[in-house]
Amino acid sequence: MRHNKIVVGITGASGAPYALRLMRHLTDAGIEVHVAISALGRRLLFDESDIRRCEPETLVEGDGCSLVTIHNDNDMGATIASGSFLHDGMVIVPCSSNTMASISAGITTSLVHRAAAVSLKEGRRLIIAHRESPLGRIDLMNMDRLAQAGAVIAPLSPGFYMRPESIDDLLDFMAGRLMDLLGVEHDLATRWESSPTR
Ligand SMILES: Cc1cc2nc3c(=O)[nH]c(=O)nc-3n(C[C@H](O)[C@H](O)[C@H](O)COP(=O)(O)O)c2cc1C
Repeated sequence: MRHNKIVVGITGASGAPYALRLMRHLTDAGIEVHVAISALGRRLLFDESDIRRCEPETLVEGDGCSLVTIHNDNDMGATIASGSFLHDGMVIVPCSSNTMASISAGITTSLVHRAAAVSLKEGRRLIIAHRESPLGRIDLMNMDRLAQAGAVIAPLSPGFYMRPESIDDLLDFMAGRLMDLLGVEHDLATRWESSPTR
């Protein structure tokens, strides 16, 4: 059963434009987007994308903003903190090592952590779009633990086989891959087609 609802967590790792691009494509596809943003996530949205105030209309331009609900990251009583809130999956993009460690340890001190833990316990899709380089051993262990618990680890590492010509192309590539993982149809150019002339 599809609910046409996706939960998006935005945390304090570099790559805020990935989150904005994904939310744009999700709302273009008619998906309701429920967002929780950590304090450092808000800072990164400002530092990297000039977003001073996080409102639906600053996160998604145009009519799509009506599909966006922003939840307070300190509000453990928000709908997305409960397993009774039915959705099609959660993606944390970008996901910091800090947030990944908290979820891996089962510690839920913010709404992003709590919504992620609930997604796992309910057997819903949880996509961790992590960004850090290099990866330390603890990051690798946390990734392994989360993968064993059912999460999908999808590092923010766009491919170049589609011959990107701009940053927009790279953002679209990653948004398309994340939408594939969330089961949302799209027509972004992300699919490799083998060509004998290459
Ligand atoms: C400008 C800036 C860039 C950062 N980039 C990353 C990053 O790419 N990956 C990461 O794991 N942490 C990064 N950090 C550190 C996290 O923001 C920090 O660990 C923070 O505690 C994460 O909190 P959160 O998980 O609640 O968002 C960055 C911090 C700043 C200020």
